Amino acid sequence: MLNRIPAFDYPFYYVEQIENYKDANKYLLEILRQKKNEDPIGRNVSNRGGYQTSHFWSHELFHEFGKIIKPYIEELKKEIRLKDGIQIDVDGAWINENKGFNFNVPHLHPKCHFAVVYYIKFPKNGGAIGFQNPNKAASMFGLMDATDCSHFRHDLDIVPKTGSLLIFPSYFEHYVLQGDNIDTRITCAFNMKINENES
Ligand SMILES: [Fe+2]
Repeated sequence: MLNRIPAFDYPFYYVEQIENYKDANKYLLEILRQKKNEDPIGRNVSNRGGYQTSHFWSHELFHEFGKIIKPYIEELKKEIRLKDGIQIDVDGAWINENKGFNFNVPHLHPKCHFAVVYYIKFPKNGGAIGFQNPNKAASMFGLMDATDCSHFRHDLDIVPKTGSLLIFPSYFEHYVLQGDNIDTRITCAFNMKINENES
């Protein structure tokens, strides 16, 4: 029997639907409402079309959202075997709202260790999130049609649902594909930093 050794395995995590996602959405949609009132144009970063808020991670309602997802972050700390006393801090948070045919170009999340995407609303026919394999050598084999093993793939699309949570290393290049959605596709993204100086 072959024993697979997790050699250089990627710490990439997915929760199909978090607990209390309805409360999470209530908090985040209220932040979105406030941000749109303050700034109806929004930011333009990786988004092409759609609306993106400025950063709001100190907002009290984001702290309420933080309480809901804390168990998943604690699980992440165990998964990556983070040593005692080392903290994971949130560093930047924003909300994206895409209508059908809006998309996000390939990008990374620099100056942090993990990127997180939470799906406040994933409408019918919403655009999937796509990831490129950071191991370009594996996809250079050209075996993507010969095997279903994701190791050999060039890219990977994930179709989430409302309440889904994705956590992945910030060096994973990713993008949002165009959807055919009539309702808006709303996500909250944030970055996390491992702070080795915390005690
Ligand atoms: Fe992103």
